[in-house]
Amino acid sequence: MMRRYDWFAGLYDWFELIRPEREIRENLRKTAIQKLDLQAGMRLLEVGIGTGATIPFIPNNVEVFGLDISFNMLRVCSKNLAAQTRTAHLFQGEAARLPFRSEVFDAVFNVGGMSLFSNPARALKEMIWVVKPGGRIVIVDRIVKSDQSIAPVQAAGDMKDQLRPGQWIHSNLPLEIKDIEITPLAENKWFCAVIQKPATSLTTS
Ligand SMILES: C[S@@+](CC[C@H](N)C(=O)[O-])C[C@H]1O[C@@H](n2cnc3c(N)ncnc32)[C@H](O)[C@@H]1O
Repeated sequence: MMRRYDWFAGLYDWFELIRPEREIRENLRKTAIQKLDLQAGMRLLEVGIGTGATIPFIPNNVEVFGLDISFNMLRVCSKNLAAQTRTAHLFQGEAARLPFRSEVFDAVFNVGGMSLFSNPARALKEMIWVVKPGGRIVIVDRIVKSDQSIAPVQAAGDMKDQLRPGQWIHSNLPLEIKDIEITPLAENKWFCAVIQKPATSLTTS
C-alpha cells in the first residue's frame, strides 16, 4: 500500500477530478464529516488522510490530525493545506499501530478503503482506543467481497452470496460497544458506519 500510494500520490487528485464518480465521492466525504457531529475546538483524527480531500468539508474551528502510511500522499496533502490556508498535524504511520495515546481525540474517521488496509480489524481497534469516551468513530467504505474474507458471513442458501455492509466492522467491535449504525450509501455500493464509544472507558485495548 505504501509503495502503491507513494507512486500514485502525484496523480491522485487529478484522477479524483476526472473520475465519473467524482460527485459521489465528494458526497461520501461530506456525509462522513456530517456524521461526526463536530463542534468548535474538537480534535479530529483522519486515518488514511491521503491528499486531504476531506479537508474542505471540515469546519475551520476543528483541530485536524491526519495519519497516512504514504509519505508522498502526505507531501501532497501538505501542499493542498497550504493552498487552502489550512493547517493540520500530519503523521506518517500504520493505521494498525497508531502513534497516539489512548483517548486523545474527540472524533476519528476514515473515508475510502479501510477494508483494504493490511489489518483493518486492528486499525478499527486502534481508532476506538484513541477516541475519548463518548467520542464518535465514522467509517465510510465500499461494500466489497473482502468483507467476507475478513469476517466470513455464516449464511446458508440464497443468503450465501449477499454482502452485509460493514460486516467486518460488526465482527470486530469490542463487546462493550453496542451503539453502531450502518447506513448503505450510493446505491448500496458504499456504507457509512457510525460507532459511538461508551462514555465510560473500555476495558479492552
Ligand atoms: C483511497 S485513499 C483515501 C484517501 C482519503 N481518505 C480520501 O478520501 O481521498 C487511501 C489512503 O489510505 C492510505 N493507507 C493505506 N493503507 C494504510 C495503512 N495501513 N495505514 C495508514 N494509511 C494507509 C493510503 O496511503 C491512501 O492515502
